[in-house]
Amino acid sequence: MRTRVGIIGAGPAGLLLSHLLHLQGIESVVLEARSRDYVERRQRAGVVEHAVAETLRGAGVGGRMDREGLVHHGIELRFDGRAHHLDFPDLCGREVVIYAQTEIVKDLIARRLADGGKILFESRATAIEDIDTGSPRVRFTDGAAEQVLECDIVVACDGFHGIGRASLPAAVVRTFDKVYPFSWLGILADVPPSCDELIYAHSDRGFALHSMRSEQVSRLYLQVPNGTDTAEWSDERIWDELTARFALADGSWELKRGPITDKSITPMRSFVTEPMRHGSLFLAGDAAHIVPPTGAKGLNLAMHDVMLLAEALTAWDRDGSTTLLDSYSDDALRRVWRAEHFSYRMTTMLHPDPQGGDFERRLQISDLDRIAASRAAATEIAENYTGLPQV
Ligand code: FAD
Ligand code: DHB
Repeated sequence: MRTRVGIIGAGPAGLLLSHLLHLQGIESVVLEARSRDYVERRQRAGVVEHAVAETLRGAGVGGRMDREGLVHHGIELRFDGRAHHLDFPDLCGREVVIYAQTEIVKDLIARRLADGGKILFESRATAIEDIDTGSPRVRFTDGAAEQVLECDIVVACDGFHGIGRASLPAAVVRTFDKVYPFSWLGILADVPPSCDELIYAHSDRGFALHSMRSEQVSRLYLQVPNGTDTAEWSDERIWDELTARFALADGSWELKRGPITDKSITPMRSFVTEPMRHGSLFLAGDAAHIVPPTGAKGLNLAMHDVMLLAEALTAWDRDGSTTLLDSYSDDALRRVWRAEHFSYRMTTMLHPDPQGGDFERRLQISDLDRIAASRAAATEIAENYTGLPQV
């Protein structure tokens, strides 16, 4: 099998890249280890930055997002029993859209298949070869037989556990890693959200986040110790703990409860690979970098990587120019490090460290107080959260 751009992984990064290339008349094949049903069900992120939403609209795949997504003009920070609202349009002129990653994936798969695109589900890439040449190959298996995809360029969008990153020569790669001493227990519940905007709550009992998927479905997260098993958390224990962590000192707020339909654990990690390209192999999304979810940046960063790459591949396809391909890694890494810093800041500001003491907690409250008191401090959060146009 032969194609111009071989893409490994049908997550949001691989699918958007394949679609953006198609719009420019550039052929690609997407290899995906899992089934279509599996990738369309996997529960993950929910916040779409302004610029990413604009890209989806511009590429003709934002229709359902605009009908069913929820435009949010801010977030609430809760700490010390108090609530502080950040008004994004007032602070930075942008907003975000709440629309689940699973829905973006469904929209992109439907559009690629309607356009005659090739997504090979249940086809696991096993090796990437000859990346020092202009004709790399991807070996893959569909369970029955091993096959070869010959390409001009390979883009690994195969997530943190894929084979893309490991296929870069060890001598040229540097990685940066931080593992946090806590995880998130995430739930989906069939209950209308108890708030109009997302609530990020700091409490002595731990962090909690109230998000949503629709007018009828809530998504909530609790900070839990690493190694936690969802079996330790009954529905009642989860609701009780969420209620305690979101409580306001004046008792003026109530959390609605409902049937929990999904429980999962997300470990918290920061990770960056440099460079994001070697020869004819490019990395994009979680294959190259991970952020802890507190800044809602993982999905958005993955989309920004492939937006850059689509532009670079278009210039290369049109007139053979490699200028943008050559600067891809540096260009992408500038945004990656900004998002790494913001995600680290939000994480360390909002999660009491189980090994930390009262000194660290007072610093966290002081940082949050500063955001509540200062327009400059609040603007810094708003600009990063809604996505910086230029990094
Ligand atoms: P992925 O979505 O991981 O897609 C990679 C694809 O490659 C997968 O479909 C995988 O099956 C496929 N693949 C892997 N190996 C191979 C192979 N060898 N051959 C073929 N295919 C392969 N971010 C947030 O902002 N908020 C959140 O709440 C949040 N929660 C998360 C929860 C979990 C459990 C995880 C894992 C991530 C979460 N994230 C969250 C991060 C966000 O979902 C990711 O940043 C985003 O999915 C990155 O997209 P991607 O396309 O780069 O990678
Ligand atoms: C969601 C996830 C996040 O990590 C976040 O910061 C905000 C919202 C969500 O799943 O809705």
